[in-house]
Amino acid sequence: MEQAITKSLTMANGVKIPQLGLGVFLVKEEEELKTAVKTAIYDGYRHLDTAMIYNNEEFVGTAIKETEIPREELFITSKVWNYDHGYEEAKAAFAASLERLGTDYLDLYLIHWPSPNYIETWHALEDLYEAGKIKAIGVSNFQIHHLEDLLAHAKIKPMINQIETHPEFPQNELHEFMKKEGILHEAWGPLGQGKHDLLSNPILVELAEKYNKTPAQIVLRWHVEREIIVIPKSVTPHRIKENSLIFDFSLTEEDMGKIATLNTGTRYATSPDNEEFLTKTSIRPE
Ligand SMILES: NC(=O)c1ccc[n+]([C@@H]2O[C@H](COP(=O)([O-])OP(=O)(O)OC[C@H]3O[C@@H](n4cnc5c(N)ncnc54)[C@H](OP(=O)(O)O)[C@@H]3O)[C@@H](O)[C@H]2O)c1
Repeated sequence: MEQAITKSLTMANGVKIPQLGLGVFLVKEEEELKTAVKTAIYDGYRHLDTAMIYNNEEFVGTAIKETEIPREELFITSKVWNYDHGYEEAKAAFAASLERLGTDYLDLYLIHWPSPNYIETWHALEDLYEAGKIKAIGVSNFQIHHLEDLLAHAKIKPMINQIETHPEFPQNELHEFMKKEGILHEAWGPLGQGKHDLLSNPILVELAEKYNKTPAQIVLRWHVEREIIVIPKSVTPHRIKENSLIFDFSLTEEDMGKIATLNTGTRYATSPDNEEFLTKTSIRPE
């Protein structure tokens, strides 16, 4: 099983990213976070997704050290927050993330949101990438118009765009645009963030019974079939394990079609075009 869990996709620069990772958004309590990270690693996960704004990079770093897994076997992502945008600011934010994580490089560093000044921030990421400090660079919450703008100014294309994606919001148009541009699709909120009773949808429950899996596993497999990277968050050991058991079956085209009918175009979280959110979160707190 461990082999399957570490199934990877290859980014445009040839670097591999495990298709399954553990998300740690909103996990702020040290012991809970360390238990989740260690459980995941012992279950075979090798990919962890954090961010400066999650306020838990330090705990992620400590948990990793305690597992004694060699650093090069892990794939670690962090993100530069909205009030750290700008060339020098982003470089400083990156250095601080490295320090908190207790590592001297990142596998993936993302611009968390397309808030003002993301072009300058991108130039900092490009330089850090070229200096060998980051194995791959990308963005998050970028719409097509943000990507078009970034591509017009970038020396290096983003390798990943991490975006809200789940059956109610499959991001079909953006997915096709990214595919054409060679940018991998990474889903945040892959299980719908535990909101809107997604996992009790009758279609998912019926498919779960058919495949002898859980609705969460059906949804994660649906992402995997679409060549999407998934980073489900859980602090519940049996769910961390459950979420990893998605590489031993596949969904038929017909069943993929059934899940496609769940598309209502409903975002569960903030839109990347919410200017008020972007501006407000770009102001560094006193
Ligand atoms: N780039 C961005 O702007 C952005 C935004 C949001 C999230 N993210 C990243 O994406 C990761 C995942 O997204 P998310 O945390 O928002 O949402 P998610 O992974 O879709 O959902 C997490 C919720 O689902 C529950 N859950 C997990 N596995 C389950 C299972 N097998 N059955 C039933 N419920 C299950 C979790 O509960 P328990 O923990 O209680 O088990 C939690 O309440 C984050 O942790 C973060 O790393 C990025």
